Amino acid sequence: MENEKDLSDYRKVYNKKELLEANIPNNPMQLFQTWFYEVEKSGGIDEANAMTVSTIGLDGFPKNRVVLLKKFNENGFVFYTNYNSEKGKAIAANPNVCLSFFWPNMERQVIVKGKAVKIAANLSDGYFESRPRGSQLGAIVSHQSEVLASREALEAKLKNLEKAYLGKEITRPDYWGGYIVSPHAIEFWQGRPNRLHDRIRFILQKNNDWLIQRLNP
Ligand SMILES: Cc1cc2nc3c(=O)[nH]c(=O)nc-3n(C[C@H](O)[C@H](O)[C@H](O)COP(=O)(O)O)c2cc1C
Repeated sequence: MENEKDLSDYRKVYNKKELLEANIPNNPMQLFQTWFYEVEKSGGIDEANAMTVSTIGLDGFPKNRVVLLKKFNENGFVFYTNYNSEKGKAIAANPNVCLSFFWPNMERQVIVKGKAVKIAANLSDGYFESRPRGSQLGAIVSHQSEVLASREALEAKLKNLEKAYLGKEITRPDYWGGYIVSPHAIEFWQGRPNRLHDRIRFILQKNNDWLIQRLNP
């Protein structure tokens, strides 16, 4: 690479919102819901449900990748993937993961530390059935994260599968399904002027209450 790119002039003033103790609920999932609805309503984000999932890999390195949040409720955050993928293998060895959302139009970030657990098979079945046929076949054809000889090899495999499944119902392969990440700590970041951002962290206590702390920006 010949030229360096200097980004030191990239500067943004964050001044759209604030996050004050007076306005926060006791439960962080409630606050997550409020923020998510506001982001959705703003219409300014293409995939508001895109989130990074980071795992500690078998090679000892953390790895982030984007997946889609498909459900959230009081128990946590659900996403779907291939259980044999790099992330699946990492989670099998160490279920502690970190999720993060960045919603630039609202100048917000949410970071979740929690444990990922496979959801019940019948719930994964239900979601798999709701997916378009092309996505169902895609889930079957892709041995996610394994080395592939070529694009053509993948497409040829898909063609064969399409023929094999013609007129037949496609059932969920057992290596594909959902995880629910139940939160242990959730941090909400709201950009504020002069880099004095609001950071509120909820940590789950033994009695299931949430400890609420303000952090230095
Ligand atoms: C916007 C976006 C959404 C994605 N959604 C998913 C998803 O819901 N599930 C999934 O397994 N991969 C999804 N991916 C692909 C992952 O980022 C990643 O490439 C894949 O899961 C393999 O990751 P791994 O090898 O670290 O396990 C998405 C990628 C992008 C950019």
